[in-house]
Amino acid sequence: MRTQVAIIGAGPSGLLLSQLLHKAGVDCVVFERRSPEYVLSRIRAGVLEQGTVDMLEQAGVSERMRKEGLPHDGFTMAVGDTRLRIDLNGLTSGKNVMVYGQTEVTKDLMDAHEARSAQVIYEAENVTPHDFETDHPRVTYEKDGVSHEITCDFICGCDGYHGVSRTSVPKAAITEFEKVYPFGWLGILSYVKPVDHELIYANHPNGFALASMRSETLSRYYIQVPAGTDVNKWSDDAIWDELKIRLGAQAAANMETGPTIEKSIAPLRSFVSEPLRFGRMFLAGDAAHIVPPTGAKGLNLAASDIHYLSNGLIEFYGEKSSAGVDHYSQKALSRIWKAERFSWWMTSILHQFPDLGAFNARIQQSEMDYLASSHAAQVSLAENYVGLPF
Ligand code: FAD
Ligand code: PHB
Repeated sequence: MRTQVAIIGAGPSGLLLSQLLHKAGVDCVVFERRSPEYVLSRIRAGVLEQGTVDMLEQAGVSERMRKEGLPHDGFTMAVGDTRLRIDLNGLTSGKNVMVYGQTEVTKDLMDAHEARSAQVIYEAENVTPHDFETDHPRVTYEKDGVSHEITCDFICGCDGYHGVSRTSVPKAAITEFEKVYPFGWLGILSYVKPVDHELIYANHPNGFALASMRSETLSRYYIQVPAGTDVNKWSDDAIWDELKIRLGAQAAANMETGPTIEKSIAPLRSFVSEPLRFGRMFLAGDAAHIVPPTGAKGLNLAASDIHYLSNGLIEFYGEKSSAGVDHYSQKALSRIWKAERFSWWMTSILHQFPDLGAFNARIQQSEMDYLASSHAAQVSLAENYVGLPF
């Protein structure tokens, strides 16, 4: 078998890349180690930046999002006694974000692939990139016990943090930057009415809490828990009680509770690997970087990587120019580090850091007071939250 671009991983990065390349007439094959049902069962991000929305439009998969997605013009931050609505729309001259779950984005992309009988090989085992330092890269994999090989011009590693692409690169060729936080987010999904029409991020002495949503009847909530917490130690009742405490009296009074349909803990980490190109292999999305979810940047950052990478590859085939692929790593990393900074900052101001003590608590309160009193600080927060330009 032969293709122009072999894509490892059918998460949002891999499927979006494949869809955009297909639209431009570039041939590609996607290899995914899980089943489509498994990929869709992972409940993750919920907030899309304008740039991500535009890319889904460009990829021809925006119809359902336009109908069912919820545009949000602002959100609330509460730290200590200070409660502040960030007017995203007013602070950014008319920009907003779209609440539409990663599961739905992935489903729309999967449907588009199915409609055109695209080559996505699910449940591919032992997918391995080879010879990417040469002009003849190839990918090997097994399916139903049979070994296969596909030759290609480029390999795109869109296989997430635990994928095979990054770990196939010799250690000396890659530099990794990492910060692990001493807590995680316990997330639940429940068919109850959201507590507010916008998101609420709160930093309470008991820890961080977030009230989010997937629709007007489906709520997504998170609470900060210590790293290593066993999710089974938290009953539904205990989670609802804690959310009421952390989100404050007004939210508690409005909160509808009910059975949870999903409950899991995600550890928080900041991570970047550099560079993003190794000969004829590129890394994109979570394969190359992780942000803590506090600024809702993970999925959006994956989309901006794919913007630069798809443009570079389309230019390579259409205009016979390698300028775009040559600059991919540097352009993407510049935006990645800005999102890393923002997500780290949002995480720092909104969580309880047990090891940092009373000085840190005062700094958090003064960050929040400054934000509440400074239009310039709010503009800075808002322009990052809606997404920096590509
Ligand atoms: P992934 O979604 O990880 O997709 C990678 C794909 O590659 C997967 O389907 C995987 O099965 C496949 N794969 C892996 N290894 C191989 C292999 N060897 N061979 C073939 N296929 C392979 N972001 C937010 O903005 N907000 C959030 O609330 C949020 N919550 C999150 C919660 C969790 C638990 C996690 C892990 C992430 C969360 N994120 C969140 C981040 C966001 O979901 C990711 O940034 C986004 O999924 C990145 O997309 P991706 O396609 O790059 O990677
Ligand atoms: C979510 O709805 O899952 C969500 C929203 C905002 C965040 C993180 C997660 O910052």
